[in-house]
Amino acid sequence: MSWDIDRVRDELHKIDYRRKKIKDSDMFETVEEVFDYSTLMILYDLFNRGVLQVMYGVVNSGKEARVYWARDRSGLDLAVKIYLTSTSEFRRGMMTYIVGDPRFKVTSGKTRDIIYTWARKEYSNLVKAYNVGVRVPKPITVKGNVLVMEFVGVNGVPAPLLKDYTPTDINEFFKVLMDYVSKLYCKARLVHGDLSEYNIMVFNESPVLIDFGQAVDLAHPLAEELLVRDVKNLLNFFSRRGVETPDLEEALQWVKRGEG
Ligand SMILES: Nc1ncnc2c1ncn2[C@@H]1O[C@H](COP(=O)(O)OP(=O)(O)O)[C@@H](O)[C@H]1O
Ligand SMILES: [Mg+2]
Repeated sequence: MSWDIDRVRDELHKIDYRRKKIKDSDMFETVEEVFDYSTLMILYDLFNRGVLQVMYGVVNSGKEARVYWARDRSGLDLAVKIYLTSTSEFRRGMMTYIVGDPRFKVTSGKTRDIIYTWARKEYSNLVKAYNVGVRVPKPITVKGNVLVMEFVGVNGVPAPLLKDYTPTDINEFFKVLMDYVSKLYCKARLVHGDLSEYNIMVFNESPVLIDFGQAVDLAHPLAEELLVRDVKNLLNFFSRRGVETPDLEEALQWVKRGEG
């Protein structure tokens, strides 16, 4: 069942009604809901502003976020990534990447605030990557725990991940990817931090990098370590697929030189 502004409004009313009827907050918590009240309010705002016109089914349901296929008022396909505000395990992991990044200050220890900061971080990382010509889903907007971006795929079917689909010209694909890593490092001053065949989509035979929540600024104390891990992942993956890859040191130097 898809979502539009009327359904969001109905859900908000239902919750309001229950809140009035059941004062016992424990009982309230047990009612199963797809979205909590604040997420519904955020969606309402996005529908109201026409950023979203309709939101279809879940494309992917992870333990930290769900990704939905949606459309805006003009019929353009969008992906809506909604971070779940209920996973505290996740919260601890997030802090590692936020603390130490000069761009982001977490002002409270509240889970919701941390997740909002995380979503903003993913959005701003996507903007930086996009602006230096790295192929990522074009970022549209972020509000609270909801990130709206270009949908990478056709008719609600996401493009395959690199782990599931081997591009036809794998040598060229590898070259383009390494160029993206270098552009990210030298021009956007970012390290992806979770780069692997799980976070690379293959769209029209070309790479699209996704999942930038954990990406860090070069000033972050973990930046170098994460870069080494990212590059290692790529070298391992592509050499297993028969690509003649440079050794790690050579690849790292090449990435940092930024000569494309
Ligand atoms: N912009 C997008 N367009 C289409 N599908 C997407 C998009 N972003 C994510 N997805 C799908 O959702 C999955 C999870 O997204 P990702 O950002 O990697 O979140 P997670 O943190 O759950 O790994 C991806 O593997 C992909 O299949
Ligand atoms: Mg991912």
